[in-house]
Amino acid sequence: MRKQFVAGNWKMNLDQERSLALAAELRKQVGSVEDVTLAVCPPFVYLKGVAEALAGSSIVVGAQNMYGDPGGAFTGEVSGPMLLDVGCRYVILGHSERRHVLGEGDRLINTKVLAALEFGLKPIVCVGEKLEQRDAGRTEQVVCGQVESVLHGVGRRQMASVTLAYEPVWAIGTGRTATPEQAEEVHVLIRCLVADLFDADVAEDLIIQYGGSVKPENAGELLARENVDGALVGGASLAAQTFVPIVEAARSTGKD
Ligand code: 13P
Repeated sequence: MRKQFVAGNWKMNLDQERSLALAAELRKQVGSVEDVTLAVCPPFVYLKGVAEALAGSSIVVGAQNMYGDPGGAFTGEVSGPMLLDVGCRYVILGHSERRHVLGEGDRLINTKVLAALEFGLKPIVCVGEKLEQRDAGRTEQVVCGQVESVLHGVGRRQMASVTLAYEPVWAIGTGRTATPEQAEEVHVLIRCLVADLFDADVAEDLIIQYGGSVKPENAGELLARENVDGALVGGASLAAQTFVPIVEAARSTGKD
């Protein structure tokens, strides 16, 4: 059985004081939850402090991006070894904001995925179609194309460290959530593709999160779907009051 995985993507929000206060509150409320994997992904500058605030709890820390090279003349970038050094275990790669606001493409994302795995970081790799692509009936083509590209060259055994996150671009920060049926449909497509690319066991074990306006009110029905193995939460991860109920929803799906 796949264990549900709920991750909070704080994006470029909160300041140092509020980051540490949120980490402390999450530690108090869900810091010993073992039946769901929990991660928070603060901005780079707060990673170390948040990792220290959560040390010894069951909540781990992830970054929101990484550069593929281990070091060198890459002004403004942060490497995988640096992330490990400050206590990160996960790294979000290929988020739609990096794809569509900052111009990252599948090839660059693929190099980052391979590098993260090489360094021993667990990538949470995001895929998802834009509204016009969904409206044109191209969801499967777009999402499967992204999955195939970003996983190019990843070994069968390395797949145990990979999480995929299906985040339809039209549902991110818009308040417009994919219905549980829409999410399940795409998650099944992704799992079938991964079975083709690797094998049935890899596909069966793969954690596929859903992301896009996940809130306490809709988390239960999304997470109850057979192929929805967790959530990548943006806005609702910025307060314990909204994040903790999502964690509780994951716990009560009975999937572990
Ligand atoms: P929202 O939950 O704010 O829609 O953001 C989703 C997301 O982009 C998580 O990575």
